[in-house]
Amino acid sequence: MAGRIPDSFIDGLLARVDIVELIGSRIPLQRKGREFSACCPFHDERTPSFYVSPAKQFYHCFGCGAHGTAIRFLMEYDRLDFVDAVEELAKRLGLEVPREAGGREPPREGQELHAVLEAAQQFFRRELAGSAEAQAYLERRGLEPATLEAFGIGWAPEGWSGLLDALGRGDPRRIELLDKAGLLSKNDAGRTYDKFRGRVVFPIHDRRGRVIAFGGRVIRKDDGPKYLNSPETALFHKGRELYGLWHARQAHSRIPRLVVVEGYMDVVSLWQAGITTAVATLGTATTPEHAELLFRNAADVCFCFDGDAAGRRAAWKALESVLPRLGDGRQASFLFLPEGEDPDSLVRAQGGAGFEAALATALPLSEFLFRQLAEDSDLGSADGKARLAERAKVLIARLPDGEFRDRMEALRVQRTAVGFHASARLGDYTRELVQLGERVQQDAYELARGRVPAGYLVGVPPRGRASAPRPAGGEPRRSLVRTAIALLLAQPALADEATAELPWLETLELPGVPLLVELLRAIGERRPPNTGALLEAFAAHPQAEALRKLAALPLPGEPAALAADFRGALRQLRRRAIDQRLDWLKAQPALDEAGRAELRALLAGRE
Ligand code: UTP
Ligand code: MN
Repeated sequence: MAGRIPDSFIDGLLARVDIVELIGSRIPLQRKGREFSACCPFHDERTPSFYVSPAKQFYHCFGCGAHGTAIRFLMEYDRLDFVDAVEELAKRLGLEVPREAGGREPPREGQELHAVLEAAQQFFRRELAGSAEAQAYLERRGLEPATLEAFGIGWAPEGWSGLLDALGRGDPRRIELLDKAGLLSKNDAGRTYDKFRGRVVFPIHDRRGRVIAFGGRVIRKDDGPKYLNSPETALFHKGRELYGLWHARQAHSRIPRLVVVEGYMDVVSLWQAGITTAVATLGTATTPEHAELLFRNAADVCFCFDGDAAGRRAAWKALESVLPRLGDGRQASFLFLPEGEDPDSLVRAQGGAGFEAALATALPLSEFLFRQLAEDSDLGSADGKARLAERAKVLIARLPDGEFRDRMEALRVQRTAVGFHASARLGDYTRELVQLGERVQQDAYELARGRVPAGYLVGVPPRGRASAPRPAGGEPRRSLVRTAIALLLAQPALADEATAELPWLETLELPGVPLLVELLRAIGERRPPNTGALLEAFAAHPQAEALRKLAALPLPGEPAALAADFRGALRQLRRRAIDQRLDWLKAQPALDEAGRAELRALLAGRE
């Protein structure tokens, strides 16, 4: 199977892909001078500190320090591994990813697992075509053939080894893969057998539409637990996946609102009724990771639960998970269904329009929060009110700073009617502080780029990065070598001016010089088209992290000015090298003719 992806291909890819377009296809970017900015997708914030540089083909967040190339962005944002991210980029450009010949490297196990799961899915589909009983069950549940097809729903036959025999074929490696894919169970005697038996199976897809696990439902009562899910595997982590998300993303270029439901059947039925934005957690509570994933895909999320006590508990869990992610522009609501109903039964009885009508009655998060707290408190007494106020305060404190939090705080004060005036003033004060904070951040940014922000005292050293607080952590004063490296990272083509300097540069004993030399050599050999490609070439280097940080430094000035700075840095380094050599020569007890000649030449060249 496939060998290594050649470095040259990755360089070519990074030369052709446009990181602004790539990131812009996932989050809205705004032009800011030569760069683009947005609120960082990797942490909650209300003022943009996330920057994308088309020249460097690189992104960087001044708030949380996230940074990297187009490849890294896909790995972090779409949660892909390196090879998948490369494949995704290649697909955007209509390129085939080449593999190095020889193929001595074994195929990645992840790929083999994907292949096994895909084969299993096809096996289950074939089995469904041959099982009248399973087909009858699904028909009874109202699912049309097109829906079964769209969701890849299949049938795991009765018996112990249908899948094992069809895909394992007695081959130990294949059986091992089936096991690692979560498709087998083992009894106490160590015998392996099919995990899913006599169940309708729902494949679970990852963000790229690949099958990573299954959920299986019995079709007769008393056939064991109603649903069985694949165990956690290398590809499947229950707390991170949402059933149906792939389908929702396929159906919408921008998902207006996600509806979170409890079950597989709910998602599938809603989809069939034209509500193509339903997702389900897989028999677990809504985790913070789920919340993150939900809001990455839609600004509006409606949680749909049973109206019973268990449903309320589940909703409260969801509320706790979403609170820290409710930045401005995001909202969550809660819909509680009548006793005995679930979205599947509701949509079957009332159709898509009926369900939409129910959705329109969902409680805003604020309403659910206060109602639920009120139910637990005695609002007739001052004590009860004070307790409610306190509990609400703790929850509101978990909201990110912003208008929504201010509004919740105002609501809290209103609802508990304690110290209204003082708190209202506090709200104004908070708002002022927030605005001030925004201004300080913007000024720091301007300063870091060597510009004097409006309204600043004249005389603030514009390059004084030390005076520009960078939230990612203090930046020590840059040495000459670090400056040279930063400039080279910003404009790899500068290396051309330095190849002639390598011989003396290599003799220079200063921290960072070996790395600078390594960079110059690598650029000479690989000729990376931009910063991103250069960083990618050094991704596995022990200093990769330091390089990425240097690459993220905003360097003030036009390209020509950067080139001049680079030449200046080299000149100074050259002087240091000469001084070092002179010191060494002068320290020798005696010099031969060659040594004296070198000394004279150096002294002359120093001028
Ligand atoms: P429900 O019991 O509400 O089932 O479980 P449902 O979705 O309405 O399914 P149908 O309509 O009876 O077919 C909701 C979800 O909880 C998980 C499954 O993910 C299910 O879809 N679950 C439920 C399990 O994992 N195991 C179980 O035994 C039951
Ligand atoms: Mn149901």
